[in-house]
Amino acid sequence: MPELQEKVIDEVRQGESFAPFKEDGNQYEKYFYIESYGCAMNFSDSEIVASILYEHGYGATKNAEEADLILLNTCSIREKAEQTVRNRLRQFNRIKRENKGLLIGVLGCMAERLKDKLVEQEHLVDMVVGPDAYRTLPTLIAEASGGQKAINVLLSREETYADISPVRLDSNGVSAFVSIMRGCNNMCSFCVVPFTRGRERSRAANSIVAECQELFNKGYKEITLLGQNVDSYLYTDDHNETTNFANLLELVAEISPLLRVRFSTSHPKDITDEVLHSMAKYKNICKYIHLPIQSGSTRLLALMNRTYTKEWYMKKVQRIWEILPGCAISTDIIVGFCTETDEDHQDTINMFEYVKFDLAYMYAYSERPGTLAARRYADDVPEEIKSKRLEEIIKVHRGHCLISKQSKIGKTYEILVEGVSKKNDAQLYGRNDLNDVVIFDKGNAQIGDYIHVQINSATSGTLIGTQIEN
Ligand code: SAH
Ligand code: SF4
Ligand code: F3S
Repeated sequence: MPELQEKVIDEVRQGESFAPFKEDGNQYEKYFYIESYGCAMNFSDSEIVASILYEHGYGATKNAEEADLILLNTCSIREKAEQTVRNRLRQFNRIKRENKGLLIGVLGCMAERLKDKLVEQEHLVDMVVGPDAYRTLPTLIAEASGGQKAINVLLSREETYADISPVRLDSNGVSAFVSIMRGCNNMCSFCVVPFTRGRERSRAANSIVAECQELFNKGYKEITLLGQNVDSYLYTDDHNETTNFANLLELVAEISPLLRVRFSTSHPKDITDEVLHSMAKYKNICKYIHLPIQSGSTRLLALMNRTYTKEWYMKKVQRIWEILPGCAISTDIIVGFCTETDEDHQDTINMFEYVKFDLAYMYAYSERPGTLAARRYADDVPEEIKSKRLEEIIKVHRGHCLISKQSKIGKTYEILVEGVSKKNDAQLYGRNDLNDVVIFDKGNAQIGDYIHVQINSATSGTLIGTQIEN
């Protein structure tokens, strides 16, 4: 799952807090402060961690300086993501010097990747906890309070935290992430996720539907079903009944027509016609698919172990257009992967010209230790060329975004209102089902309302419009 979510989170995760934070007047004996990095799975996991900590008497605080426990839920996807965390740890060192009893824990993918090396490299770290070990946090905290370094990085084949009801942190009360599976069985050669998240496993369908129902009952209007590869979701219950991803989508969509359903991420090799037909059948399943391609060159796709060719991807896109006319498609791309030539890069540009992605997350290749690519191929594209290609593809993509956004001027969309615009308090923002962010004057609209907005102008990233009578 891409930092697709990073942007979405940036837009969505603001506004009223629903967690009982310290400033809400709740008095706990101890307080934890948590920061999350990386993909939506990590943000979702932090809500599970919060739930476990509440059960054990910890309240949340938004102020690291007054915390008894600071947790960083980390990402290893690129070198830069890890560097950000290390810099943040340096900053926490200052707080720790003032407050000797403070415990600092590293959770998530970097914890899993580096294991005990992390406490050797970063002396202030007291706990290292991998993504499948959060249930043991209370024991680890007790160990660390006794002065030992506490580490649990065991990966599990079963853990899905299905029975833990997440405590929503920094929620706007409208949109929530619901994790439907964990881990990844693909072995894309550039990717560290299979090493940090372990084997793929699907969470019980009934527990997913129950969590979504509960969110809807609490007033939430949009659910994003999360997994590294949602289309390979498959759950078999005790009566040998199986639920695949298309079935699950329909079960969640059935909760209410007023509940929007989104999902991420789809591996192009696994998304089926059945899923596309389920999307077509339900108006409340948003017509937006994140379909990471990674490269437009068949030769590189083979080196990346993506298991499809550029022609195969184009056929998949055609199928989406046939079954879901107008459906928005976004993607992830890596430039400068091992041995990438100008010709390979041109193939990627050509693919962008063909699909005209509505949104793309574009990255320069960052070699990750231990991955197939790191072991087999040289990271041989010079950094300047990576940067040049990245700039080039960003420019092409921006052009497409602008044309696509401008083509929406004059149209009217149903918008789910999600929050107050960052730039202007007198404006709200929301999204249409194509995932376009739409900004409009507040009027009498409330966060959580469905309203109709007519688009008046557009930038490459945002639509601006006026609310019209429903
Ligand atoms: N499960 C998702 C992707 C998860 S990682 C999927 O299969 O699409 C999110 C994105 O980060 C990837 O799609 C990829 O574009 C990018 N990424 C992963 N490893 C990377 C690396 N080593 N260097 C640069 N970008 C990388
Ligand atoms: Fe990584 Fe590939 Fe799995 Fe996505 S599908 S998480 S890119 S290994
Ligand atoms: Fe997500 Fe980063 Fe881990 S993208 S799965 S937090 S390596």
